[in-house]
Amino acid sequence: MERFAKLAVQALNQVLEKPIDTADLEVPKDPKLGDFAFPCFKLAKEFRKAPAQVATQMVADLHAKQALPAGIEVSATGPYVNFLAPQKEVMQGLLGDILAGPGNGTYGKLAANTRGSWVIEYSSPNVAKPFQVYHFRPTGLGAALDRVGRFRGFKVTSINHLGDWGTQYGKLSVAFKLYGADLPADPSINDLVGIYVKFHTAVETNPALEDEARAAFRRLEQDDPEMIALWKKCVEISMKEFNKLYARLNVKFDHVWGESHYKAMLAPLMAELRKKDLLIQSEGAWIVPVTDADGKELPPCIVEKSDGGSIYATRDLAAAIYRHEQFHFDRMTYVVGGEQKLHFQQVFAVLRKMGFDWASKCEHVPTGLYRFKDAKMSTRKGNFVTFDEVLTLAKERVTTLMSERAAAAAPGTGATYSPSELEQITEAVALGAVVFHDLHGDPARDVEFDVERVVDFEGETGPYLQYAHTRCVSILRKAAEAGYPAVAFDESLIPLLKAPEELALVKVLGQFPLHMERTLTQAKASQLAHFLVDVTQSYGAFYRECHVLGQSAGGSPELTRGRLMLVEATRRILAQGLTLIGIPLPEKM
Ligand code: ARG
Repeated sequence: MERFAKLAVQALNQVLEKPIDTADLEVPKDPKLGDFAFPCFKLAKEFRKAPAQVATQMVADLHAKQALPAGIEVSATGPYVNFLAPQKEVMQGLLGDILAGPGNGTYGKLAANTRGSWVIEYSSPNVAKPFQVYHFRPTGLGAALDRVGRFRGFKVTSINHLGDWGTQYGKLSVAFKLYGADLPADPSINDLVGIYVKFHTAVETNPALEDEARAAFRRLEQDDPEMIALWKKCVEISMKEFNKLYARLNVKFDHVWGESHYKAMLAPLMAELRKKDLLIQSEGAWIVPVTDADGKELPPCIVEKSDGGSIYATRDLAAAIYRHEQFHFDRMTYVVGGEQKLHFQQVFAVLRKMGFDWASKCEHVPTGLYRFKDAKMSTRKGNFVTFDEVLTLAKERVTTLMSERAAAAAPGTGATYSPSELEQITEAVALGAVVFHDLHGDPARDVEFDVERVVDFEGETGPYLQYAHTRCVSILRKAAEAGYPAVAFDESLIPLLKAPEELALVKVLGQFPLHMERTLTQAKASQLAHFLVDVTQSYGAFYRECHVLGQSAGGSPELTRGRLMLVEATRRILAQGLTLIGIPLPEKM
């Protein structure tokens, strides 16, 4: 379908002044209208004409210039220019493409590193603090963009900007020195939180500890071996736990470069700011006055505290410059909570002031918070719910649903699982539910977490999609048991696939690349999440109307083989799409 989209864009660009690309196309709600549509609202505004008038004119221009290859139909419907691809070619071309190659195939995949360099920073939790849902939001979205970006040929570099530097790590090192000996042999993040709290209590009666902590951070900044060793220990303890979670989520980073990574670059950065005459002294601190991209004044960006220490923003400036030197990125995306909007505006503004034209290639993709329906969680202050707690809640719900289902099944018909199988399924379904729920909405909005809605085998949920995938797998298994050969594309079977549901399904499957592309331009995985729901619904309609196996399929093995191609094509797109957005695929459920 991407081929047709490209053809449509090429044709449109012959009649448009400003070139567009495939991401500007939409998919009409009613597939009878067309496979792609170009909305004319923007142009209409420019030309001060009615959108429908612009659409009609464009269709006339396309015809006049004979811009479209034979077979593609074009028509104006209201404010849209609709393109309809020829049916036989769609079936043949798309199914052939989707079924090519082994495994899940390569439909929609572009050759690695053939597109621009894209740095994506995501997750970035803080050392010595439990991993909260607050950090899961940018982790899930960032990882989805990362995977889809690579799949679509971008040269992606993923970075985890660990919060591991700043005055609080001076405190932590002192706390570790004082109380580290009391910790268990294999301390956890909670143990670190424990000694941190203990330190704060001790400060109340012994304020000198505060000075000691400040001095400790200065020694840390000067690479004092003893302080560095204590701090490293805290980072290791934290990373060990974070890595367990990343493994569960199938998230991998090219670089875990925490804030500390940039410490040697801070002094040269300050020198450069001074040389460029951008610094102003204010109450002992050094600041850079800044405006936003439209010239509106923002609060100044503090780059050095009065005690000479660097701050969060200073390290972000150094990091951006370093990453540009390393990766010459065409785009750098920071997937970070929305409350840091001002921070990123300030950082980007300082970069602009420093004369870096690439500052315009940096973007902050904000994520919202979690809100809980569950009373136990909703009374928690701020967003202090760990991701682990959310997963546990989801797993409990999966277990309940599965036992309810087992109890409802007629004796002897329900599936039986070994305990380890059950644990695997429960984990996969819980993760699928939470990840889907998180990604299917607008990332900037808050997530309403109501476990009974999130974990449901029906409706627009992760488990519903996972279940659709297992159903495809099980039909293919049954077909193999009944003696059908492994599914391969067979052109001679195409004429048998005449039902409207069959054509509709293939057309939906064909939109996979388009939705990946949109996911990337808009930095929202909701595009793909909704697409996968569409696939599942089209598959449902196909499955209801067109029986695949057995007598009900009309007893024609040829027709069964034709329809098995559709089942396999659906399985591939679901498997690929779900994996890309981070939803695991249980074999059965
Ligand atoms: N560690 C920070 C926090 O938890 C997020 C870091 C975001 N990334 C950045 N480059 N500032 O709030």
